[in-house]
Amino acid sequence: MPKPRVFLTRELPPGVMAALRDQCELTANVEPRVLTKDELLAGATGVDGLLCLLTDTIDAEVLDVQPRLRVVSNYAVGFNNVDVAAATARGIPVTNTPGVLTETTADFAWALMMALARKVVAGDRLTREGRFTQWEPMSLLGTDVFGKTLGLIGAGRIGQAMARRARGFSMRVLYTDVAEPPVAIVRELQMERVSLEDLLRQSDFVSVHAPLNADTHHLVGAPQFGLMRPGAFLINTARGPLVDEAALVAALRDRRIAGAGLDVYEHEPRLSPGLVELDNVVLAPHAASASLETRTKMGLLAVDNLMAVLEGRRAPFTVNPEVYG
Ligand code: DGY
Repeated sequence: MPKPRVFLTRELPPGVMAALRDQCELTANVEPRVLTKDELLAGATGVDGLLCLLTDTIDAEVLDVQPRLRVVSNYAVGFNNVDVAAATARGIPVTNTPGVLTETTADFAWALMMALARKVVAGDRLTREGRFTQWEPMSLLGTDVFGKTLGLIGAGRIGQAMARRARGFSMRVLYTDVAEPPVAIVRELQMERVSLEDLLRQSDFVSVHAPLNADTHHLVGAPQFGLMRPGAFLINTARGPLVDEAALVAALRDRRIAGAGLDVYEHEPRLSPGLVELDNVVLAPHAASASLETRTKMGLLAVDNLMAVLEGRRAPFTVNPEVYG
């Protein structure tokens, strides 16, 4: 049997590349940059499967390359970069990588929260610049995390992993979600379901863990910042457009809220005007899942998904399972 032909849009960790080369006839973009639309179309033409990243826009034009793709394997849990309706209309399974990045992402959201509350980045800067000349009783006075209230917008896998960490910090945990997590987990993690408005009014730290879709676009904007406590912090490791970034910049500039820790941006990788000038933000380059172990696990899962479909099986994680009929 000839190996299936696969196009990979960016180089992945060595273990993933080895698995792909072993199982497929692989063509890969090895340049460290996002492909142009024309390059993506050229790469996808004539292959059976596409392994792509969240930075690749997979629209109807890409899905219609000939002969038709048999699977789109997205190297991410989020899949807002793929036109899933168009894929479904063409009977193409779209797969993602949930589960394997849960703890790594929650670790990073927690790191942003700690860095913000305890001014870790400002302290690093001050020390490097030689401004640590004596112990200061009144400088870098942050906010305690222990014992505070954490509000989770989204209580799926990553939200629950945040709640688990919060137990070690004796925090009260509030959540809001369109879905209901299993009762046993809500009980174990002592999470309290509240409305979004109550969550915003009561939380010291608001952390976003929702998927991006038409219903969640700008879920947190000016009216929501208006409800938050002046001492509260926002953390976003999910997707940038969940937050109205212009409204966030205004809220931070006016000290309407105390600070924000961001790993994702509304117009990624571009930042909204004014964001970098603010001293009450900690900014990261969409790196929450960036550990070698996790990026390798994501890649191996993406390969499993891809190969399952190419071998005529259901993929372990398909976002449009209706295509299997
Ligand atoms: C995902 O998998 O959706 C993440 O954003 C990648 O870090």
